[in-house]
Order: sequence, then structure tokens, then C-alpha cells
Amino acid sequence: MRIDCLTLFPEMFESPLSHSIIKRAKEKQLVEIFLSNIRDFSANKHNNVDDKPYGGGPGMVVMPGPVFSCVEHIKTLSPDEPRIIILSPQGKVFNQKKAIELSSEKRLMFIAGRYEGFDERIREGLGAETISIGDYVLSGGELAAMVIIDAVIRLLPGALGGEDSAENDSFSDNLLEYPQYTRPEVFRDMKVPEILLSGNHAKIEQWRREQSLERTRKWRPDLLDGQDNKNPNQRG
Ligand code: ADE
Repeated sequence: MRIDCLTLFPEMFESPLSHSIIKRAKEKQLVEIFLSNIRDFSANKHNNVDDKPYGGGPGMVVMPGPVFSCVEHIKTLSPDEPRIIILSPQGKVFNQKKAIELSSEKRLMFIAGRYEGFDERIREGLGAETISIGDYVLSGGELAAMVIIDAVIRLLPGALGGEDSAENDSFSDNLLEYPQYTRPEVFRDMKVPEILLSGNHAKIEQWRREQSLERTRKWRPDLLDGQDNKNPNQRG
């Protein structure tokens, strides 16, 4: 998979995308990540990429010119047509189902903005999809892009080490993961559930399933209702 991130702050991506599972996935050549600075495509001598909104109002809006020039240039660097994603609180809320869907793409392109927002013609003209990571407002799309990239990369076949697996992750079947325990058997009077020490794999399996259901019912009943992806701001 090839991932391009278009941003005004490429440095923000460097450390989060250089450790642990992402680092290993890059080393195994499961994914290549490229960072591009939208400011490099500014058409004016001050390197501006934003301007005041038509019609008035607070803040600045990212201009279409530098974003289009950046996307058009980055597109030529690989023959695969990218799936273009704009990060914004106005998008459909990201979830594990979306992560699985994106993990089957050959090429993803994330456009992260700052300021008040993007000129609407960027979304329209690029045929981009808008994704939010939750109903709150971040200072920019960079962190949101990194969240999505992390969730997608760990799903690439081979990204998790031999015995690890994404199959048991929370949300993999719309349920939270069952509780996990390790040594010691007793910690400050809190005991590991007896069943996990029994060696009876069928019973353990059944117990885990029940725990998953109970936990989901208690903590995230919306997942059982299929309501996990609702967003009042959703624009379709
Ligand atoms: N940019 C600002 N807030 C955001 C959010 N919640 N999700 C995605 N991008 C954003």
C-alpha cells in the first residue's frame, strides 16, 4: 500500500509513524508513507495557502490552488489512482468497518487542513471523501489522519507479528474485546478468573464470548444497536 499525506505540518507525522507496528510494516515493505507539504505548492511569493472567507466571517480558509497542484503532482508519482480522503469534523465518523475497507486499497491520499476549513471546491473537484474521527474539533486534520493510518496499517496482512492477530480486536465483530489477564494469579487480592487457569479451551472460548457481549452491553450498547456510526453533522 502507498499512503500520501498532504499537510502544512509534515513534521507532525514523523515520530508517530516511526514506531512499533507501523515501523515494522514499513520495514517489511507492506506500506510506504510519503509526506508532502502543501505550502511547497503555493503560487504566491509569500507562500500563503489560505485566505479570508468570501462573505466574511472569522478565520482563514485553505485555498484550492495549492491543494490541487499538490494532489496533481503527487498523483503522477505512482500509477495507482489514490482514494482521496479529507479530514474534517464534518465527515462520516471513522470506525473499524471503515478501517477494514480502507485496508484493501492500493493507495490512500490524506489531505489534512488547519484553519477554519477548506474551500468547498477542494472536496468537490477532487472527488474526495470526508472522514471525521469523532464529534469533537481538533486543531487540524493531521492527528486524525495518523489515527486512521494506524488503524489501517495494523490490518495489512503480515503487519502484526506471527502470533498476534487483529481478529480478536475490539470491534472486529462489533463487540468489545474480552478482559485479558497475565501473571501474577493474585494481585492485591484481585484474582484471575478461575476458568482461565482451567486449561479447558472450549469453556474459555465460551467465557470470553460471554464477557465480550456483557462488556459491550454495559459499556457500548450502541454497538449492539448498529448505531456506532451516527454523526449528526454527517453530510452523506
Ligand atoms: N479536523 C478537525 N477536527 C477533526 C476531526 N474530529 N476529525 C477529523 N479531522 C478533523
